[in-house]
Amino acid sequence: MDPIELGSFWMPKQSSTIAEEIDTAYYIVYWLDVVMFVLLMGALAYFMYKYKRRGPKDKLSDVTHSTTLEISWTIIPSILVIALFFVGLKGWMKAMVAPGNALEIRTTAEMYMWTFTYPNGNVSVNELVVPKGQPVKLIMSSKDVLHSFFVPEFRVKQDVVPGTYTTVWFEATENRDTILFCTEYCGVGHSDMMAKVLVLDKPEYDQWQETGLKPGEKPLPPAELGKKLYATRSCNTCHSLDGSRIQGPTFKGVFGRTEQIADGSSIKVDENYIRESLLEPNKKVVQGYPAVMPTYKGLLKETDIDAIIAYLKTVQ
Ligand code: CUA
Repeated sequence: MDPIELGSFWMPKQSSTIAEEIDTAYYIVYWLDVVMFVLLMGALAYFMYKYKRRGPKDKLSDVTHSTTLEISWTIIPSILVIALFFVGLKGWMKAMVAPGNALEIRTTAEMYMWTFTYPNGNVSVNELVVPKGQPVKLIMSSKDVLHSFFVPEFRVKQDVVPGTYTTVWFEATENRDTILFCTEYCGVGHSDMMAKVLVLDKPEYDQWQETGLKPGEKPLPPAELGKKLYATRSCNTCHSLDGSRIQGPTFKGVFGRTEQIADGSSIKVDENYIRESLLEPNKKVVQGYPAVMPTYKGLLKETDIDAIIAYLKTVQ
């Protein structure tokens, strides 16, 4: 197998059109450093040995400086650094300017999930689905604090900022799922703020846009769909299944449980309370928990909400 396919010691696999250019710039610097390091440390060790003062009778060197040497160790690195600037500039310009035919996907980051809105209004959460071989431009913003979008295999990274838009573009070259990380510390859930990047062939991408089904997928029964949504919509970041306390109340035995609400009243967890908690999560927060859940309004279809309710009934 091609060694680049496996990723190298330093770099993950390459799967976008810009990856090769970025890696080339990286390896030019890397190998320059290796050569410099070996030459400098080798010379240092050799001179330490050769010119060690072995006793009081050893004479000191009478060389004070060497103009030729000083000029060459100024000029040669200057040329190298200027050359590196142009290597970097070329790649940077390519990375900054998205091609005009790029597919635009609106991307929203918030503690602790990623939401993607596609041109036809489709929404996916913690799962970025892109067609292979087509430039994709993400128009990103944050709902709360600073986050950062990073797909190592694509070699793209860009801060996601509240109150302003930032963009990033890439063109996926491989039919391979990869991972998107949040790469700026944003709170306790930062390390869980990941999303899957799914690269589909164009016809399969179109089918997914049309039906929400990925290649080989069949519609799921509600409880199973709910289970999947629990993981893919980040419910699991805050709600455990085993009774342990994370950010929010556990889902173990949640359906039918009576909860104390922050205002002192109590409520029985039924279909309507779950639905309301998904759409207006801060209306009736369970006592003792922070009101930090984001709303899922517009992010879940009615059938998704039904599926989550069906699933929660099964979590005992
Ligand atoms: Cu979002 Cu770290």
